[in-house]
Amino acid sequence: MSNTVLVGAQWGDEGKGKVIDVLTADSDIVVRFQGGNNAGHTVKTGNEKYVLHLIPSGILHDDKMSVIANGVVVDPQGLVDEIRGLEKDNIKIEGKLRISDRAPIVFPFHKILDAKAESGRSYAQKIGTTQRGIGPAYSDKVSREGMRIGDFLLTNFEEKLGAKIDAVNAQLAFFGKETVDKDAMIRDMVALGKIIKPYICDTQVYLNDAIKAGKDLLFEGAQGTMLDIDFGTYPYVTSSNTTAGGATTGSGVAPNKIDRVIGVIKAYTTRVGEGPFPTELFDEDGATLARIGHEFGATTGRPRRCGWFDAVVGRYAAAVNGADYWAMTKLDVMDTFKTIKVCVAYDYNGKRLENMPSDADVLSACKPIYVEKPGWQTPTTEITTFEELPQNAKDYVNYLCEITGVELGILSIGPKRESTVRVAI
Ligand code: GDP
Ligand code: IMO
Ligand code: MG
Repeated sequence: MSNTVLVGAQWGDEGKGKVIDVLTADSDIVVRFQGGNNAGHTVKTGNEKYVLHLIPSGILHDDKMSVIANGVVVDPQGLVDEIRGLEKDNIKIEGKLRISDRAPIVFPFHKILDAKAESGRSYAQKIGTTQRGIGPAYSDKVSREGMRIGDFLLTNFEEKLGAKIDAVNAQLAFFGKETVDKDAMIRDMVALGKIIKPYICDTQVYLNDAIKAGKDLLFEGAQGTMLDIDFGTYPYVTSSNTTAGGATTGSGVAPNKIDRVIGVIKAYTTRVGEGPFPTELFDEDGATLARIGHEFGATTGRPRRCGWFDAVVGRYAAAVNGADYWAMTKLDVMDTFKTIKVCVAYDYNGKRLENMPSDADVLSACKPIYVEKPGWQTPTTEITTFEELPQNAKDYVNYLCEITGVELGILSIGPKRESTVRVAI
């Protein structure tokens, strides 16, 4: 029996969905514990491609349970659309999904407030959010003014939501913004609540009972370490704890029940949205990574910024998550390069920094210190064991693991399930 937390080690989109799908085979329950439908997790099975936003990527396996735990902010319309979309693709949902009664609700007005906050920020301060209402929904949670999924079960749900809408409308009117239609929103939410009700439960009890019964849990992180509200490149971050600690507060499963932490890390780096990114490339190499890696956001379709592997980020992610293993993805994207650069430290105004600075402006001013590694210029997607890799590819992967101090658990060399080498886990 073992419980595994899987998190993104960089700025999101590391390939968590793919690795979760592979590891689901060894698990009983897959649990989302933070974020919301700002996430976009891609799973390719055979010729089918699925993009999961709120529902755990484990849902594609018929005999596994999926849980949306208390730390996730849930957009009811987004959830119902996702359920319907999966059902249309013949993915069974009924009986396989549980949603926490403690999970905060994302209402349509949170999206309006998200857009308003972004438009109010100067160009230099824009975060480039996914506009899914994530920040305002978490703000409501923390300021103790939000509503939760369990409220759908209350007899006075309409009254409670009505009072909330009145408060939001007063706020919108104050800012000179169009107010929301209270009756229509209550009507829509009541209808969505009816669809969601059968899935609602106390997921903390469900998960802890499952652990007692010997079930294996797999926690599916969203976003990535550098987008964590505490440890990311604040304020260019999301609004939840994306790091491993979030799995416990976001689910009610205690830290001593977690057996291992897997960090998903790309063999290079990408970022979508604004904020510092020391190894970002603006040249032909960056364009090659974007083209071969198909680096477009799975949620918003925005082009992702691309750059070389950053070992300062890797070491930092290893520390704050307590990563036992890396699941290293997209090595195949590096197949054509003659030379590959790896950032080993930063140069900040002539001073060498080995550790991640806390200040985004300092990080913006950091220049990467690179070492160069020879490429392998051989396709790797078809390999089935680590030994089959070209020597330079082995050396590159081993070097990244060595300088970040984390053992290689899984190597991914293509988007499909079969393009996966289980090395140590
Ligand atoms: P997530 O948010 O971390 O789940 O990642 P995304 O799904 O947003 O983005 C990762 C993209 O890379 C998806 O299009 C995946 O299908 C794809 N992908 C995952 N692993 C690999 C890999 O090893 N090689 C290649 N070429 N693509 C991969
Ligand atoms: P997955 O789970 C990459 C980024 C946004 C923006 C910042 C804040 O697919 O890896 P938000 O809407 O959360 O308030 O936006 O965070 N962001 C992501 N970037 N992958 C994601 O999720 C992301 N979710 C949010 O682009 O910069
Ligand atoms: Mg993604």
